[in-house]
Amino acid sequence: MSPFWMPFTANRLFKSNPRLLVSAKGMYYTSHDDRQILDSSAGLWLVNAGHGRQEIVDAVAKQMSQLDYAPNFSMGHPIAFEFAERLAKLAPPGFGHVFYTNSGSESVDTGLKIAQAYHQAKGDGRRVRLIGRERAYHGVNYGGISVGGLGYNRRLFQTLPNVDHISHTHGIEGNFFSKGQPPNGRDLAKEVDRLAILHGPDNIAAVIVEPVAGSTGVLVPPVGYLQELRAACDRVGCLLIFDEVITGYGRLGTPFAPQYFGVMPDIILTAKGINNGTLPMGAVFASDKVWDAFVQGPPNVAEIMHGYTCSGHPAACAAGMATMDIMEREGLYTRAATMAPKWEAAIHSLNGLKNIVDIRNLGLMGAIEFAQRDGVPGVRAFEMFTKCYEKGLLARVTGDVMALSPPLIIEDSHIDQMFQTIKEVVESTD
Ligand SMILES: Cc1ncc(COP(=O)(O)O)c(C=O)c1O
Repeated sequence: MSPFWMPFTANRLFKSNPRLLVSAKGMYYTSHDDRQILDSSAGLWLVNAGHGRQEIVDAVAKQMSQLDYAPNFSMGHPIAFEFAERLAKLAPPGFGHVFYTNSGSESVDTGLKIAQAYHQAKGDGRRVRLIGRERAYHGVNYGGISVGGLGYNRRLFQTLPNVDHISHTHGIEGNFFSKGQPPNGRDLAKEVDRLAILHGPDNIAAVIVEPVAGSTGVLVPPVGYLQELRAACDRVGCLLIFDEVITGYGRLGTPFAPQYFGVMPDIILTAKGINNGTLPMGAVFASDKVWDAFVQGPPNVAEIMHGYTCSGHPAACAAGMATMDIMEREGLYTRAATMAPKWEAAIHSLNGLKNIVDIRNLGLMGAIEFAQRDGVPGVRAFEMFTKCYEKGLLARVTGDVMALSPPLIIEDSHIDQMFQTIKEVVESTD
């Protein structure tokens, strides 16, 4: 058996019949058996500008030959500063402070630490409790699994103390097959107040949510829910963190979710699409309010004792700058808004096919949920995933949900191909 211990994979099953992707261009991968595979998941929710962008390759090569690595601990290199300037301009107003990481999981842990340290800096060190949400995915580091809401990702491990969760918003009567935001459930956000009474409001540091939960099956927030959440955090006096590792960089048709929903958090976590998935990178955006608390101390002391050897790696920054050039030039930060009506109509055209129990969409995100086969989770959806792959479509499944998030360069013809293939697969699967 290969020494490669694959992540989140049944290694023995996979290695008995491997599916290898050997190259990629635009909307398509090429498989090891030389087939064209339409990418309906932008890799793992991150290749927003499409595959094989030569401009990014050239920018990375140039940067690597000029400066391969330089530290950012009490030293610096120009491109990390330049990229942060551009990121801050793309972010919603008032998010002018960028902390670099190397992954979504690191962005999550960085954001949680900033939230706790913020209260400490304000002389309110009792505020350490973190509130997550059921069915949230915040990566795999200890902070992320602690605030995350997936039982099977948590139960083997010793999660952090002082964490609690509000309910997820999925499965509410009247919300199934909603187009866009579902109508019911905004008051679920008021569970923050309930937990504040239980734990004491002045113990709570932050509430963290994905504006649209992605990895657990595209759970779209009910109308008014995020506004209620903001109001509840203000009542409790805690920070609101948006984990935008998936929704960031154009997935909803705006650069970030606050610009879509009109709700401002205090901290925004990103990774994935920041440089089109070409090199490991993430970025945490702190609001001016948060940053200001950190600059009350003596100027010769680090504002936060935190960072990674490769925070702001020059090659990752070069990839990010080139990605931003493409996204801006081709209007990709807002393209999901243009494509959303066609996308919504196409995904909901599957309504009525057998075994489908829900369909959801927002921006260029979508999910088709299937009934469990014989009460066993995930089996039917996984069979559909393998059949789609045989028919030339990479369609990510998570549990009983097929979750779709194509590159933002998608054209009408790709949408047609995608949903025609899924339709055939659903119809041919018991
Ligand atoms: C919302 C969210 N947060 C965090 C992560 C973790 O990112 P990474 O796998 O880059 O560590 C993911 C990954 O899918 C995610 O969807």
